[in-house]
Amino acid sequence: MNAKTIDITTSFLKEKGFLHPEIGIVLGTGLGQLVNHLTIECEINYTDIPNFPVSTVEFHSGKLIFGTFENKKIVVMQGRFHLYEGYSLQEITFSIRVLRALGIQKLLISNAAGAINLDFKKGDLMLIEDHINLQGGSPLAFANVSEFGERFTDMSEPYNLNLRHSIVEIAKNQNITLHKGVYAAVVGPQLETKAEYRYLKIIGADAVGMSTVPEVIVANHLGLPVLAVSVLTDECNPDDLKPVNIPEIIAIAGEAEPKMITLFKALIKNI
Ligand code: HPA
Repeated sequence: MNAKTIDITTSFLKEKGFLHPEIGIVLGTGLGQLVNHLTIECEINYTDIPNFPVSTVEFHSGKLIFGTFENKKIVVMQGRFHLYEGYSLQEITFSIRVLRALGIQKLLISNAAGAINLDFKKGDLMLIEDHINLQGGSPLAFANVSEFGERFTDMSEPYNLNLRHSIVEIAKNQNITLHKGVYAAVVGPQLETKAEYRYLKIIGADAVGMSTVPEVIVANHLGLPVLAVSVLTDECNPDDLKPVNIPEIIAIAGEAEPKMITLFKALIKNI
């Protein structure tokens, strides 16, 4: 990791008009519609941002968008970078360091995940309270990490408590079911075997997905308060496992998305 590279990208974005964002948002698979609620000031494809990796997954549009939402200036990553696309953990979290350098004070993350806890149903939302990193590495495992923050980053409360309390209140008021649970991050892109789903349950995961944890680790490294919500797109029952249906996963994410938008909108208003 190179501070100069972060500077170059940050200066480039400032010149393009990405000025003084307060909040950053990462939108997961099938969850791009929030940007339709934004008054957009500028947007740019990842392919046109110096030093950004290029998102290769076809259902991600891969854009950085800047605008106002509930009178707050926000910067949205529409589409994220995954380990399974072949990037390193440092590459997939570079954008989080850039958003922080642009000035964000809070980070809100969404993702699509499979439900390991079978009390949770597809289409439900889950607030991530804690996580298990099964990606086999750390985005902080590089030589000069201490130039950017504490190498031995504390992870005793990785998801900000105030933000969590606020969103739980909002969900209650809006009558939206918001489960709480532990998210396990795997590399993918293959889905899990029945044995792996059993294992995930035993080790305490409520949901599984292929993202978010590296971003959250880097946010903690940067002292950036972070909140993350999973949209549960499928039920991972090892005793009745059906072949994966990606179009259905994306469709379920899209159907549940308005609930997530409602929660994020109210949360941003309250921040
Ligand atoms: N595993 C299982 N189901 C899923 C995942 C995953 O990583 N993501 C979305 N649904």
